[in-house]
Amino acid sequence: MKFFVDTAEVDAIKELNELGMVDGVTTNPSLILKSGRDILEVTKEITQIVDGPVSAEVVALDADAMIEEGRKLATIADNIAVKVPLTWDGLKACKVLSGEGNMVNVTLCFSANQALLAAKAGATFISPFIGRLDDINLDGMDLIADIRTIYDNYGFETQILAASIRTVNHATQSALIGADVMTAPPEVIKKMASHPLTDKGLETFLKDWEKTGQKIL
Ligand code: E4P
Repeated sequence: MKFFVDTAEVDAIKELNELGMVDGVTTNPSLILKSGRDILEVTKEITQIVDGPVSAEVVALDADAMIEEGRKLATIADNIAVKVPLTWDGLKACKVLSGEGNMVNVTLCFSANQALLAAKAGATFISPFIGRLDDINLDGMDLIADIRTIYDNYGFETQILAASIRTVNHATQSALIGADVMTAPPEVIKKMASHPLTDKGLETFLKDWEKTGQKIL
């Protein structure tokens, strides 16, 4: 499973990247706002840190304007994935931009039918938003499983990018279902390393070590 980091915070990306935990990055207008940075400048900086796909999102609503914005974003670096929303116009933009050889991430996906359309429009990635479905009392994991089944039934190559991951359980479940990629905030990726039994075991080992009176260095 590939790990994308869902942030525009450069320091957090660098820290995880040094550990080999970063296969790509996703940003969106809210994350750009949170970073306080200029979209073109911060996205460029991220593409210089990370080798894998870096998603940068268009903000226009009609297809022609999305295509223009997408072409501009794609000039930032070779590893840009243009992010377009899952609307009819977004699908048109996906078709054109992917036809021009760009990676396209179709975002804000909340149904299996939407994912099916994105695959047919040539999307490189489909981003089903798990957490936002959970927020309205629907099961985001069911959506990931449905898309996995449909894509496998027909051999679609669009990669399932499990997005809006809020908990470590979302990460486990996405991996079990077979999402190709997950994108999660840095805090969630770091939390995946935690286990109370690890902490408890370490505490016992250190107490016993103290009693031996030995030193390694
Ligand atoms: C994905 O590409 C989105 O940026 C992100 O996962 C949205 O997550 P949120 O619902 O926690 O804002």
